[in-house]
Amino acid sequence: MSFDRSIKIAPSILAADFAAFGAECEAIEAQGADWVHVDVMDGHFVPNITFGPATCAAIRPHIKGVMDVHLMIAPVDPYIEAFAKAGADVITAHVEAGPHIHRTLQAIRGAGAKAGIALNPGTPASAVSELIDMADLICVMTVNPGFGGQQFIDMTAKIRDLRAMIGDRPVHIEIDGGVDPKTAPLVAAAGADVLVAGSAVFRGGSVTNPAPYGDNIRAIRAAAEAARG
Ligand code: DX5
Ligand code: ZN
Repeated sequence: MSFDRSIKIAPSILAADFAAFGAECEAIEAQGADWVHVDVMDGHFVPNITFGPATCAAIRPHIKGVMDVHLMIAPVDPYIEAFAKAGADVITAHVEAGPHIHRTLQAIRGAGAKAGIALNPGTPASAVSELIDMADLICVMTVNPGFGGQQFIDMTAKIRDLRAMIGDRPVHIEIDGGVDPKTAPLVAAAGADVLVAGSAVFRGGSVTNPAPYGDNIRAIRAAAEAARG
């Protein structure tokens, strides 16, 4: 996984057909997705349950590019090894998920994956100021995690603060929640490079009719790139 700050679209399979994850991953990659975003929820850290490492391992062979695993679970540390073994390229943990996020990030890198830190909307940028060198990605949540299809919460000031904090370091800024062609320009202009989108990518398409996925991905990317100038 090489580093660059080009706009990357990461469809969230939370909005895919759960009975056809393998085919859905292949379809979104064929339609132009850069990364595949995989939302793991435990019904404890967030009020919803999705799936765990066995499902990640099952879909891995259907993903050619980056598998970006977003852990909305607490505790995190006992499961890092399993998600790394399942083939996650990026493992993101929430800064709110426990008292030892520094150790969690060390463990993620130690397991051979890129380390991400996610911040809920109520968490300030300063929560990660001591962690920038431990991280490969900072995920700014623009919804309260747990569900797809929620309304975008404007976190532009936080994104700008993080972008300034990161400087020249090779750390991605990822945005997760409510990203569509209307909101993508705001976050791209503020300094984000990885845009997660669930409903705005999968809307109107299906595994048997995947062309709308491509139209949706292109629309988000074009809006984001135009805002960067
Ligand atoms: C929210 C998840 C997101 C979600 C995004 O808890 O982390 O990845 O699937 O979905 P949309 O794009 O529909 O807001
Ligand atoms: Zn997510």
